[in-house]
Amino acid sequence: MRWAAITKAQRALPIGGGALNLKIAEEAIRVLMEDMKKIVLLVAGLLGFVIGAARAADKVDFAKDIQPILQKSCVECHGPEKSKGKLRLDSKAVAFKGGKGGVSIEPGKADQSELYRRILLPADNDDVMPNKGDRLTKVQTDLVRDWINQGADWPEGIVIVSPVNVVAIGVINTESKAETSPTEIQLPAYKPTSAELKAIKELEALGVAIRPIAANLEWREANFRGSSAETVAKAIIPLGKVTGLVDLNLGGVKIKDADLVNLKGLINLNRLHLENTPVTAAGLIHLKGLINLEYLNLYGTAVTDAGLEQLSGMTHLKHLYLWQTKTTEAGVANLKKILPKVDISTGAEFKEIVKPEEKKDEKKEEKK
Ligand code: HEC
Repeated sequence: MRWAAITKAQRALPIGGGALNLKIAEEAIRVLMEDMKKIVLLVAGLLGFVIGAARAADKVDFAKDIQPILQKSCVECHGPEKSKGKLRLDSKAVAFKGGKGGVSIEPGKADQSELYRRILLPADNDDVMPNKGDRLTKVQTDLVRDWINQGADWPEGIVIVSPVNVVAIGVINTESKAETSPTEIQLPAYKPTSAELKAIKELEALGVAIRPIAANLEWREANFRGSSAETVAKAIIPLGKVTGLVDLNLGGVKIKDADLVNLKGLINLNRLHLENTPVTAAGLIHLKGLINLEYLNLYGTAVTDAGLEQLSGMTHLKHLYLWQTKTTEAGVANLKKILPKVDISTGAEFKEIVKPEEKKDEKKEEKK
């Protein structure tokens, strides 16, 4: 670079003898500095580009960022049971229909969206939303703003359930000790799409039991325990289309890590059995988006600490089974830091679980 600059300087100057040597040197330095400036500008430009690209990639993720806000602060009054202001915010179709005052989410235009205006209002304004309890934080309102400005993407099939107005269903599994405590699945009505109904028919043709979890409800559960690897291989693609699936049992099944990519779309999944399968950390990468999971059983798999890292976004997780996995105490402690509420069974406490007092506790839970 330097040599090129100096030759450039020499070419630029009429060279007329020794006295000019100093001038040449000065000019060379000047040209050099100019080149340096250009390089600095170029690098800065590139950096700006890189940062810009990183920003653009910072897309708000509905399931991760927006759904929890609506769920915690809005759906209680804007859901199927109570629809204040005739507005529902529990599924895509109803939310974009708007309420009494018309459409409240204008994709691409947060500043023209009534929903965004309402959450920004001061606490003492009559129109502020939520109109009871805490206002949203700045971080939350910014997420809503960015989400709307980025087009208000609401993935098909995500239904938001209010933690308050719920139908509570005890799903009781009798297969092993760990599963006998009923987990409450809280669900509103669900309507499968025609693609989903078609996938269910395909699964039934393969002999897969994919049943509604209760009468009058379209939410489903599927149990593959004891199914051949061949059946699972055929079923995995249609299975991934059953968005209403809330309970999936793949325990003991020969499923490959790569197969799990098909389950990515099962965003309403609440319980997932993967115990005694060949699944490893590489497979769990595909399950990252299943943030509604409350129960995950990885007992007897080769899952490592790297696998646990994939679970960090599963903020609803309550029960995680890790007996006989390759996870370490440190890995478990780390996850516990990120998800403090999850109850992680590593096997060390297994003896405690079967103690009589604990059983009593479970009975109490059942009565609730
Ligand atoms: C405790 C009940 C309650 C909660 C929680 C609540 N709202 Fe409301 N919301 C209302 C009531 C009541 C109205 C109708 C009166 C009004 O328009 O102010 C309303 C109206 C609205 C409207 C105007 C609808 C229209 O078309 O007229 C929007 C938008 C709205 N709410 C958004 C939200 C959002 C977003 C949240 C959560 C951040 C939320 N609300 C939480 C009670 C609630």
